[in-house]
Amino acid sequence: MAATMRVRLLTPIAMSVASFLFAAISTCAQDANLPRLEKRGVTTQLIVDGKPFLMLAGELHNSSSSSLEYMKPLWPRLAAIPLNTVLTPVSWELFEPTEGKYDFTLIDGLLAQAREQRLHIVFLWLAAWKNGMSSYAPVWVKQDTKRFPRVMLHNNPANILSTIAGFSDATRDADAHAFAAVMQHLREVDSRDHTVIMMQVENEVGILGDSRDHSSEAERTFTSDVPPQLIEYLKAHRDILDPELRALWLQQGEKTSGTWAQLFGDTARGDEIFMAWNYARYVHAVAARGKAVYNLPMYVNTWLAGEDTTPGDYPSGGPQPRVIDIWKAAGSAIDIYSPDLYAANFSYWANRYHRESSPLFLPETNGGSAGATNVFYAVGEHAAIGFSPFAIDSFPEGTTDLGASYGAIASVAPILLEQQTKGNVHGFTLTKEHPSVEFSMNGDTVHLSLDEIFDNHSEKGFGLIIATGQNEFLGIGKGFRVLITPRSSSPFKLGYASIDEGTYEDGKWTPGRRLNGDENDQGNYWRFDARSIKIEKAVLYRYQ
Ligand code: DGJ
Repeated sequence: MAATMRVRLLTPIAMSVASFLFAAISTCAQDANLPRLEKRGVTTQLIVDGKPFLMLAGELHNSSSSSLEYMKPLWPRLAAIPLNTVLTPVSWELFEPTEGKYDFTLIDGLLAQAREQRLHIVFLWLAAWKNGMSSYAPVWVKQDTKRFPRVMLHNNPANILSTIAGFSDATRDADAHAFAAVMQHLREVDSRDHTVIMMQVENEVGILGDSRDHSSEAERTFTSDVPPQLIEYLKAHRDILDPELRALWLQQGEKTSGTWAQLFGDTARGDEIFMAWNYARYVHAVAARGKAVYNLPMYVNTWLAGEDTTPGDYPSGGPQPRVIDIWKAAGSAIDIYSPDLYAANFSYWANRYHRESSPLFLPETNGGSAGATNVFYAVGEHAAIGFSPFAIDSFPEGTTDLGASYGAIASVAPILLEQQTKGNVHGFTLTKEHPSVEFSMNGDTVHLSLDEIFDNHSEKGFGLIIATGQNEFLGIGKGFRVLITPRSSSPFKLGYASIDEGTYEDGKWTPGRRLNGDENDQGNYWRFDARSIKIEKAVLYRYQ
């Protein structure tokens, strides 16, 4: 009897110890396998379920995911494009309609709907700011202007939450508290499936309508000394600062103490630096609270400044390239600084946002034929971890230009991601204005130009070239031709031993036609005609 009692008494204790250990072990196991950014060779890649992952994505219209009914018929269409990832808002107003009361319905519903189509999600945390404004804050925040103060634009109070450190702490804490609750929930419901692979924190932050907040608290901060944390960063990174930021600091005498205006000038550009510091401090704090609970990669997106536009005509303080250093000085919880890249000079902006410390991710960009082209340049030339045209839910049904590009890239993604780490990939776009480009690959020179044969001339070409071996290349795209020449010191000449078109399915190559005659311009060029995207393999031979 006594023995039985002892067993009965011990069993619940033993069970709770066992379940505690099990929970601890399984948490560790999940954590090791969380979606993460990892430096691999010369690139930083997004790792999902232990493997590099390329997001071939699209972002929904802002309001679509506020209704699960509205979303229901869209998911199969998104999967059919074919996307592998959907960027979708989760808003503070709907998540915490009453202070402290969280509504998980939309998050859970979106996860279930995405999983049915085997799609991943990137959630956009639309909270204190969206496009510089504060329309996504819950009503209990909007109503309490004392607890959650607003900015002053040219002496007029505006309905935009302030970000000034010290003044906006209650807003920051409420925002961070809600964000941490989102992350806690994701940890509970998604740490095995990894449907959610990344988080965007806020959306296109920055002050609109003025270059800086002119509330009395903001003015007081602006006329105080620049914090030592920022000055130490500037000193430590002096020689690698963004040239525009460095120039501003130099113009003011490269001071290492003083007010914001003394260090960076009393101009709109100086104001932008002040605002960048304040937004960055806030956003890093929110991201850090979320990461402490569930450590997913996090990024911020940028409303890009036009040429010669004044801060305030675009959100002043958002992570424009010239102030990314300021953002980095303010914290490290944000992993990626992203451009919302609708501008025509795609390669210029891609180049500015692809940094050693921040991989390129394009959360918003054009779709259609521009997107179909640019995705090759982004993933080929800049090892972009993802590409995501905006308003993806209003794309036409059926085969689209973007879908054709995504389908082809997805089929070669494992090879592409592997070769990216060794620097063996180049991407390009060709137009009549820029009809050719050259790269060095395997020590040889790869010359790309718009395709032509007899009287047929391509007007546009795009694609990527992957070196898969010393004499072997994989090409994807259309409208271009390739000539490969040896470096000048080589005693050998080069010729094409074979060119085959084909397809990849689940990593298995199925060859189609052997391309010769007109299809390789009688052995002179490796050709990709302008009709449709092709996947082709070329093998070289060397001779004297
Ligand atoms: C950029 C914003 O980030 C999006 O939410 C959306 O408003 C688009 N602009 C509209 O073009």
